[in-house]
Amino acid sequence: MEAYQYPYYYEIALAPGAPHREVDFFEAAIEKFSRVSVRRVLELGAGTAPYLEEWCKRGYAYCGLDLSPAMLEYARDKARRIGAAASFVLGDMRKLDRNLGRFELVYVLLGSLYVRSNAEFLDHLDRIADLLAPGGLYLLDSFVWFRIFHQYKRSWVRRKAGVVVRTRYRAELLDAIAQTYDECLTFTVNDHGRVATIDGRVPAKVFFPQEFLSLVERSERHEFLGWYNDFSFSASLRPEGRHIAILRRR
Ligand SMILES: C[S@@+](CC[C@H](N)C(=O)[O-])C[C@H]1O[C@@H](n2cnc3c(N)ncnc32)[C@H](O)[C@@H]1O
Repeated sequence: MEAYQYPYYYEIALAPGAPHREVDFFEAAIEKFSRVSVRRVLELGAGTAPYLEEWCKRGYAYCGLDLSPAMLEYARDKARRIGAAASFVLGDMRKLDRNLGRFELVYVLLGSLYVRSNAEFLDHLDRIADLLAPGGLYLLDSFVWFRIFHQYKRSWVRRKAGVVVRTRYRAELLDAIAQTYDECLTFTVNDHGRVATIDGRVPAKVFFPQEFLSLVERSERHEFLGWYNDFSFSASLRPEGRHIAILRRR
C-alpha cells in the first residue's frame, strides 16, 4: 500500500478532472433509481475524498472509509479547510463494520473494492445491505472487467506546482484459476529536483460481467439496475471506458 501513503502525489496523479460532472451523474442516479431521499453518503476506499467538496456544496453529509491513515488525514484536512460536514473512518473494507451507521448511498470509485474471492464479495454485499437504507443505492465504478482479453496497463504524467508525477498502473496476474491479481501502482516523482519511486500493490480478484450478475442475484439483498459508461445515462454501453454498476438495496 506504499502508493497510498503519499496522498499529495496521489492527488496529483489521480484527482478527477471534473468532479461536479460525476456527482451530477450520482444525483441523476438517485433521482432515477433511489427509493429513499439521500442525505448520508459513504465512500469506500475514500483516499483523498475527491468528491467531498461537491457533496458538501450540495448539502449531503459525507463519510469516507479508508485503510491508510495518511490518506484519511489528508482528506480530514481538506474537510477542515472547506468547512465540510464530513466524517472519516479508519478501517478495512474487507471487514466492514455492520454498525458503521445508516447511509442512503454507498459508492466505490476506480475499482477500489479489494475483495479477493466470490465468498468475500458475497459477504461484502451482505455488509453493505446492513449499512444501506432499504431502497438506497450502491454504485460501483470500474469494479467489473469488461475487456476480457485486455492487458490492464496504463501510464500517464501529471504536473502541479513544480511537482511531476509519472504514474504506471498495471494488473499482475497472481492465480488464473482463482482470478486473483495484484493491482500495481507506481509513482515516479520529481519533487523540485528530488526524485523518488513509490510502489504499491494491493491484491484483488477479477470479476467478469456475468459472474457479477450471478453473485448479486445470489446475494438476494440487492437488485441490479444496470451499468453505465463513463458517468452518463445517454452514452452507449461498450467494453472500453469506466462502467458504473448500480445496485439497489431490497
Ligand atoms: C485507487 S485509491 C481510490 C481513492 C479515491 N476513492 C479516489 O477515487 O481517488 C484506493 C484507496 O483504497 C484504499 N484501500 C486499499 N485497501 C483497502 C481496504 N482493504 N480497506 C479500505 N481501504 C482500502 C487505499 O488506501 C486507497 O486510498
